[in-house]
Amino acid sequence: MNAPFRFTTCRAGSEAALKRDIARHFGGKLSPAFMKPQFITWKVHDPAFRTPPSLSPFARVSGTSLGLCKTIDELVDFACHLATKPVRLHVFPRLTPEDGVSAADWQRIDTLAAKITQALQQAGVQCTTRLPYVDGDLILDVIVGETEAEPLFAGWHTHQAGLHTEPGGLPRITLPDEVPSRAWLKLEQALAWRGWDKLNLRGQTALDLGSAPGGATFSLLSRGMNVIGVDTGEMDARVFRLAETQAAVFEHWRVAAGKIDLPSLPQVDLLLCDINLAPNQVLPMIERIQRHAHVPRLILTLKLNTPALEDQACHFIEAARHIAPAPVFATQLAGNRREICVCAG
Ligand SMILES: C[S@@+](CC[C@H](N)C(=O)[O-])C[C@H]1O[C@@H](n2cnc3c(N)ncnc32)[C@H](O)[C@@H]1O
Repeated sequence: MNAPFRFTTCRAGSEAALKRDIARHFGGKLSPAFMKPQFITWKVHDPAFRTPPSLSPFARVSGTSLGLCKTIDELVDFACHLATKPVRLHVFPRLTPEDGVSAADWQRIDTLAAKITQALQQAGVQCTTRLPYVDGDLILDVIVGETEAEPLFAGWHTHQAGLHTEPGGLPRITLPDEVPSRAWLKLEQALAWRGWDKLNLRGQTALDLGSAPGGATFSLLSRGMNVIGVDTGEMDARVFRLAETQAAVFEHWRVAAGKIDLPSLPQVDLLLCDINLAPNQVLPMIERIQRHAHVPRLILTLKLNTPALEDQACHFIEAARHIAPAPVFATQLAGNRREICVCAG
């Protein structure tokens, strides 16, 4: 299975950051081979190269390339050579708008996925949808282009902790009209990525740094959490109304996160940060709070608004590892813009 090409998918606009990140970490071992929007393949130059679970925080999915397939039969042929154990079939679109893949596009993909599943089963390849995912599960990735004329791309990877379980890292969550901001979407995607959407958070307390106008707080209150929102900006009135209907507590602390009065903090179960400052300004604020509060779960959105900041992504993730509980994972969520999501705990 030591094929000479790897593949990565990424957010629209992160291709250059991904290329630089991989050059920095795997220069001489991998070089870009084939590129389409949100998709890059890599030639492997070192036969001993062992693919890490994720090639880069900018790669939403990465794995070993099987190649392009014009027909489902070709795809099945690849899979027959690959699979000695049941495969999880992940069929997903190459192009992924930041506010989510449309229902019509998912319908097209799902119809295709059903046909592929049937063809695989007829060829004797076992497909599984068993839950939960466990490390080592074999995933057959099928990436679908914009039109039926574009060949399918096939690749595979093995599941490891911290990788997405939704095909393509694309949970089917769409932004409702009634939420105060698209930070709601990013938080819901982060919770789904870590499986924390299944936790019963009711009655627990979240500290939301950079909380205004309140999309993330809205998501937390909907889950029955009590929330302290820290922001000098205004919170949307819908946040206060939701707290009332949920019989949850929402407090707005109108201070800069670096100035929080630490002794006033209650026990905090979840720390969120979406402050629009560079990570080297934000991480020390989080370290100060963590030293005092020892929060067991963190979800940090690190803003990487310039190439120089993007190029330090791994440095910031490493810095987060020093201040946050293990395990620490980082990814660029489907809803992220020039930022990455770091989850810890
Ligand atoms: C991207 S917005 C946050 C969106 C928010 N998470 C939501 O759910 O709607 C960034 C926020 O960070 C806030 N901010 C900037 N510097 C801050 C600081 N030092 N402490 C707290 N908040 C800060 C800004 O006022 C702004 O509201």
